[in-house]
Amino acid sequence: MIFVYLFLSLLAAVATAEDGSRAWLRYAPVPQADNYRSHPSSIIALNSTKSSPVYTAGQELQHGIKGIFGKQLGINGTSNSRPAIIVGTVDAYRKAYGNFDEADGLEEDGFFLSTEGDNVVIVGQNERGALYGAFDYLSRLAQAKFSTVSYVSNPHAPIRWVNQWDNMDGSIERGYAGPSIFFQNGFVVTNTTRVAEYARLLASIRINGIVINNVNANVTLLSSRNMDGLGRLADAMRPYGVQLGISLNFASPQTFGGLSTFDPLDPAVDAWWANITDQIYTRVPDMAGYLVKANSEGQPGPLTYNRTLADGANMFARATKPHGGIVMFRAFVYDNHINETNWKNDRANAAVDFFKDLDGKFDDNVVVQIKYGPIDFQVREPASPLFSTLRKTNTAIELQVTQEYLGQQCHLVYLAPLWKEILEFDMKADDRPSKVKDIISGERFSRPIGGFAAVVNVGTNATWLGSHLAMSNLYAYGIMAWDPAAQSEEVLGSWIRLTFGFNRDVMDTITDMSMKSWPAYENYSGNLGIQTLTDILYTHFGPNPASQDGNGWGQWTRADSFSIGMDRTVKNGTGNAGQYSPAVAQVYENINTTPDNLLLWFHHVNYTQRLKSGKTAIQHFYDAHYEGAATAQTFVKQWESLQGKIDAERYEHVLFRQTYQAGHSLVWRDSINQFYYNLSQIPDEAKRVGNHPYRIEAEKMALSGYRTYAVNPFHTASGYTAIVTTSNSTVGTATANVTFASGTYDVAVNYYDLIGGKARYELSLNNRTIGQWTGDLEDKLGHAPSIYLDGHSATRITFRGVEVNKGDILKIVGKPDGIEPAPIDYISFLPPGVAD
Ligand SMILES: *[C@@H]1O[C@H](CO)[C@@H](O)[C@H](O)[C@H]1NC(C)=O
Ligand SMILES: *[C@@H]1O[C@H](CO)[C@@H](O)[C@H](O)[C@H]1NC(C)=O
Ligand SMILES: *[C@@H]1O[C@H](CO)[C@@H](O)[C@H](O)[C@H]1NC(C)=O
Ligand SMILES: *[C@@H]1O[C@H](CO)[C@@H](O)[C@H](O)[C@H]1NC(C)=O
Ligand SMILES: *[C@@H]1O[C@H](CO)[C@@H](O)[C@H](O)[C@H]1NC(C)=O
Ligand SMILES: *[C@@H]1O[C@H](CO)[C@@H](O)[C@H](O)[C@H]1NC(C)=O
Ligand SMILES: *[C@@H]1O[C@H](CO)[C@@H](O)[C@H](O)[C@H]1NC(C)=O
Ligand SMILES: *[C@@H]1O[C@H](CO)[C@@H](O)[C@H](O)[C@H]1NC(C)=O
Ligand SMILES: *[C@@H]1O[C@H](CO)[C@@H](O)[C@H](O)[C@H]1NC(C)=O
Ligand SMILES: *[C@@H]1O[C@H](CO)[C@@H](O)[C@H](O)[C@H]1NC(C)=O
Ligand SMILES: *[C@@H]1O[C@H](CO)[C@@H](O)[C@H](O)[C@H]1NC(C)=O
Ligand SMILES: *[C@@H]1O[C@H](CO)[C@@H](O)[C@H](O)[C@H]1NC(C)=O
Repeated sequence: MIFVYLFLSLLAAVATAEDGSRAWLRYAPVPQADNYRSHPSSIIALNSTKSSPVYTAGQELQHGIKGIFGKQLGINGTSNSRPAIIVGTVDAYRKAYGNFDEADGLEEDGFFLSTEGDNVVIVGQNERGALYGAFDYLSRLAQAKFSTVSYVSNPHAPIRWVNQWDNMDGSIERGYAGPSIFFQNGFVVTNTTRVAEYARLLASIRINGIVINNVNANVTLLSSRNMDGLGRLADAMRPYGVQLGISLNFASPQTFGGLSTFDPLDPAVDAWWANITDQIYTRVPDMAGYLVKANSEGQPGPLTYNRTLADGANMFARATKPHGGIVMFRAFVYDNHINETNWKNDRANAAVDFFKDLDGKFDDNVVVQIKYGPIDFQVREPASPLFSTLRKTNTAIELQVTQEYLGQQCHLVYLAPLWKEILEFDMKADDRPSKVKDIISGERFSRPIGGFAAVVNVGTNATWLGSHLAMSNLYAYGIMAWDPAAQSEEVLGSWIRLTFGFNRDVMDTITDMSMKSWPAYENYSGNLGIQTLTDILYTHFGPNPASQDGNGWGQWTRADSFSIGMDRTVKNGTGNAGQYSPAVAQVYENINTTPDNLLLWFHHVNYTQRLKSGKTAIQHFYDAHYEGAATAQTFVKQWESLQGKIDAERYEHVLFRQTYQAGHSLVWRDSINQFYYNLSQIPDEAKRVGNHPYRIEAEKMALSGYRTYAVNPFHTASGYTAIVTTSNSTVGTATANVTFASGTYDVAVNYYDLIGGKARYELSLNNRTIGQWTGDLEDKLGHAPSIYLDGHSATRITFRGVEVNKGDILKIVGKPDGIEPAPIDYISFLPPGVAD
């Protein structure tokens, strides 16, 4: 029978599109399902209220077992059919079956799962916990883990939220997967199907709250029509145990409520917030709470009235307290107009400077939400010193699943290892073990609440995040918020099995690519603790190291012609190292004990500074950029080795992105290396930088209808120059004689793909067409677009295995469209194994 079930469900699986919408909840048939002998034959869900997560658990078990085993179980159906899967809360279980001793070990949201007896028993401390247990059981089955188990699982911390940065008009700040699932045209959506699906996905990784709107909050969320909408959204999420939260704009009493002030100590303001809060809780009785970004990046806040940040936070705390709500108050407060001329100025000091005197002054239902590092989600940062500064205040860590500075889902970057480094970092407060994970859970400083928030920014795209592989980050976030002791690679392994199945090569290859991905990205973007070197003034995507300096944002590198880095020492610099506990401060204060990967974060050094590896800093830059980009090239080949081993739909989608990443990693490599070579004039010992023997520069070709163009930033073009058509209606032609030896080459064209036009290109050799393409990546990739020729729009297309004869005439015809003048940087003729 099982064979038949498997066969039928395999057919069903083939018929289901692998568009990513099912994420890790595919419930695909598993191999060796017949090992699972004692199939329960029914499900007993100890609650029939449809909004109950226990009811949901019953439905989910039915759905999952149908997918995995092809077997339809009744829910309570023939209520005595045994063995059964019993799911419910402790209370309901006791009522139905009497004693339940394991309850003692359960904490809020925790669950007990046992497959030991005849029945499978899943008991949650609360309804949500019961659902988590059901998902855990299904995850085991879907991974063919059929062994007998019995265990209790409790969360590391009570707050496990995601933050969406969705705007009322439906756009998403730093979102790379299409428009909002929550808002459209200024209003909460009416169709909540996708919201419920998102809640289900989050419940399966034990996330219990979603703040649905941008921290740069729009007051129109508080209109009565939108408040009604919040009620609808909460209704859609409630069966999954996911609570709704919202971001608020501090100035609302004035800009929306018509009061003359938004002073947090003005009684009228207090009353206004109490009223609004009551109105929201009328619609959403179980609202999780508020998230507030105040006095940050132009947002209003209490400082306008000379009130403290604690005064501001406590105002919201008073309003939500009667309803059991909490207030997440962001520590991301800093002045974005600081003067770089002053060597001692440092944005990294801001959070501790603003908050240290407020410790103990926040109400009990306030949680200070702290970004993992002192600056802003950079590829490498030390843990924020605020974690060990606040001892009498609840805290939570803020992570980013959306890859704002980390390739925007167009580069594979598996983030769990980054998060682990921070979570496991020992802040050594009072010389006692003080890991970040134990501070934010409330354990280390005996705080009642605390936990995790991650900016996620899913959109309407079927893949949720715009990229299939990026979903490992969302999965890992949930798993680690529940259990930070989980190992990055094991979490990844579960995700791969659930997402792509059991093929050994698939497992090994995606594991290898993912585990190499953060180091690779760090290598070809910003290494040695110099942040990401993305363009911080425009898209946060492509390279532009100069954008870090010369402005008030304080993400400075202080690079000049002979030195680089932020001097954050106490003895001669900004004093930031001194914000850590003495045992940690001592490590960072001394250049000899500072790890190389944070060297330029804490120290200003000459490019010729020797690292612990023995290399100079500048040579490390060059080498790392070559190594990182070389690794990104191997991801393409690794992925191609999986052809036929996963479904074609996801295979093609991922291949497209890996190919893009390989090309863009070369843009990064050359751009950063050209920039620092230009600045330091120190040559690369390996003579690679500025030396590209396989390239034909477009500007050196014979041009007709094309003209040369000085690209800005200069280092984002090979030889600093590209070509563009002479007008937006002139077809351009560039030709050159091929002088390379005859043979087979991969021919790569580096060009710029701008938003605002879809230029067309044709590449030929002796009038033999090698390839044609369109500049339409803005429709396919989802990263922040650019209207310029720069490091964001620079990209590459490669034609493999082209027969080339010495003396061939190379020709590119470019047809501009809109504002896109068919820009071309260079053409590479690459012998096997060469990436240039
Ligand atoms: C299943 O039966 C139990 C009692 O045996 C009851 O509490 C529960 O509401 C029922 N669930 C459903 C989904 O009907
Ligand atoms: C069933 O679920 C509803 C909604 O969550 C809840 O109010 C009720 O207390 C639950 N009943 C039992 C017996 O668990
Ligand atoms: C707030 O949202 C409304 C409705 O979408 C929009 O008209 C307005 O411009 C937004 N305000 C801000 C400051 O973004
Ligand atoms: C609601 O959205 C879902 C998923 O996006 C879609 O399948 C469904 O057709 C929509 N329902 C209505 C009534 O538009
Ligand atoms: C809030 O204020 C409005 C208008 O001032 C009033 O009509 C309403 O009753 C108040 N609501 C609550 C819950 O206090
Ligand atoms: C805040 O304090 C400063 C100096 O202490 C004073 O100049 C300013 O007027 C005060 N602002 C308000 C709104 O009270
Ligand atoms: C920065 O400080 C320097 C030295 O004090 C001063 O000359 C300069 O005008 C300041 N720049 C700005 C933008 O305030
Ligand atoms: C000390 O700080 C000054 C700026 O005040 C800087 O020019 C100098 O390079 C620093 N010295 C060292 C050893 O880092
Ligand atoms: C750094 O380089 C400058 C300029 O070449 C030189 O004066 C200084 O001595 C160097 N510092 C160190 C620590 O090597
Ligand atoms: C290619 O070489 C031929 C013969 O040497 C020359 O006449 C022609 O101008 C060259 N074309 C280009 C595009 O450089
Ligand atoms: C998802 O987004 C990508 C771009 O990020 C696009 O290529 C693709 O067509 C989108 N798919 C859906 C179903 O929206
Ligand atoms: C070309 O540019 C002009 C001026 O910027 C603009 O008005 C025109 O629409 C553009 N033409 C095309 C085909 O995009």
